[in-house]
This record gives sequence, C-alpha cells and structure tokens, in this order.
Amino acid sequence: MRTDAANPRRAWQAWVMAAQINPSILSADFARLADEAKAVEGADWLHVDVMDNHFVPNLTLGVPVVESLARATDTPLDCHLMIEAPDRWAPQYVEAGASSVTFHVEAAAAPVRLAREIRAKGARASMALNPATPIEPYEDLLPELDMLLIMTVEPGFGGQAFLDIMLPKIRRTRELISKHGLQLWLQVDGGVSASTIERCADAGADVFVAGSAVYGAEDPAEAVRALRAQAEATTARASWACAH
Ligand code: DX5
Ligand code: ZN
Repeated sequence: MRTDAANPRRAWQAWVMAAQINPSILSADFARLADEAKAVEGADWLHVDVMDNHFVPNLTLGVPVVESLARATDTPLDCHLMIEAPDRWAPQYVEAGASSVTFHVEAAAAPVRLAREIRAKGARASMALNPATPIEPYEDLLPELDMLLIMTVEPGFGGQAFLDIMLPKIRRTRELISKHGLQLWLQVDGGVSASTIERCADAGADVFVAGSAVYGAEDPAEAVRALRAQAEATTARASWACAH
C-alpha cells in the first residue's frame, strides 16, 4: 500500500487509488521458482496457490515449498489455500513465512476463529468465496478480515475464462465495505487480464491476481506494470472510489 503519512487526506486518496497486482506462480515454471519470483520483483505480492486435490481437482505445493520461496524472495507471499481443513493447516503457512493467508469459507469449520488465529500469528487474514458462494451471509464477518477474495473462475486451474457474472458480487461487496467503513482489501482471482481488469476495478476490486496474463507475457515485470496502470486509471474514474 502506498500512502503519504504527512498528509492524512492524501494518504486516504492514495489508499483509494492504489491497485495491487499479485502474479500467480501457478503459471510459472515450478522448477525455477526463485527465478520466476525475481522476474516479477516490482509486484506487490506473490500469489501462491496451494491445492490439495480434494477441495479442488488439482495438486500443487505445500508448506516446505512456501518456506523455501519465502527465503528466496523479498516479495511478500499471498498464500491462497484451496484445501480441505484450512483450520488445521492455515497457521502453518504463516509460520512458513506467508504474509497473507487466504482460506475458503466453503472449507473452514470456524472462519472467525481461524481468521483471528492467522492475525494473532502475524499475517493478514483473508477469506475466499467460490463463484456460487454469496457474500451476504458473511457481512458480519468482514471486520475480522484484512482481505476478501472473490473467485472469478471455479478454482483449480490457471488460464480459465473470466466469469463476468461475478461482477455484481464484486460491486455488492464493495458497497458493504464502504457501508461499514472498512479498510478491507477486495481481491479478484481468475481470468484477470488486460481485457478484464478494468471491469474488475470499476466494480470495486483493488487487489488483482494474474497468472497467465503475467507469466504468459514476454516481459512479466512489464505486464505487472501495465496491469497496475490500467487498474489505477479505471479506479480513478470509478464511482466507488470517487464517492470519498
Ligand atoms: C485458480 C487460481 C488462480 C490462478 C489464476 O484456481 O486460484 O490463482 O493461478 O490464473 P489465471 O490468472 O491464469 O486465471
Ligand atoms: Zn489463486
């Protein structure tokens, strides 16, 4: 987050306008993860997709790889746990070096307790919603979270088409964040690219995961800069950001 501490009003504006880009290493070369992390050094976070072949039909990596990656890069790790029993496993990802840990509400037995445990261990707590999961039942939980992730594909694989039917949910979530005056980040994940990021930013997202759009580009670092510029230009015109 970029802020201007000397001027509270400008700090607020900077917070509203800032867009964060989180490249997903799911689309990177897993045999060269340290190099792939370096290739996107200007990114705000590195998005690490953990899949257990139960919550989603795919298998990626676990705690030991996150530990190694945390040692190999200065970019903070944003771990997205697409796993069963996150109540049991999520705290271990904080200990492994993740600065933000996202669990899926569909898999969590006690999301409030889990969010508090993640925060108590020193990481940002984040909760994810699958495409079929509405935000409305979770309005009262929002103050417990540092970030809410709205999936814009069914989780499990990179390179899927963006589900624009999720845009109304992004809008409604942004309205809830404003209504409660929360500084909650709103992340979107799945199919985010140069052709979809503006619709996400206009609807109210401010943290953007991009896998294939970054690692599929000839120059991944330039792709990050270009996506950020697009998102920030859209946010500057968006009604949700201008209302403040
Ligand atoms: C999908 C993962 C995403 C994935 C996004 O289940 O959670 O983070 O890497 O990849 P793209 O940006 O290619 O859709
Ligand atoms: Zn993800």
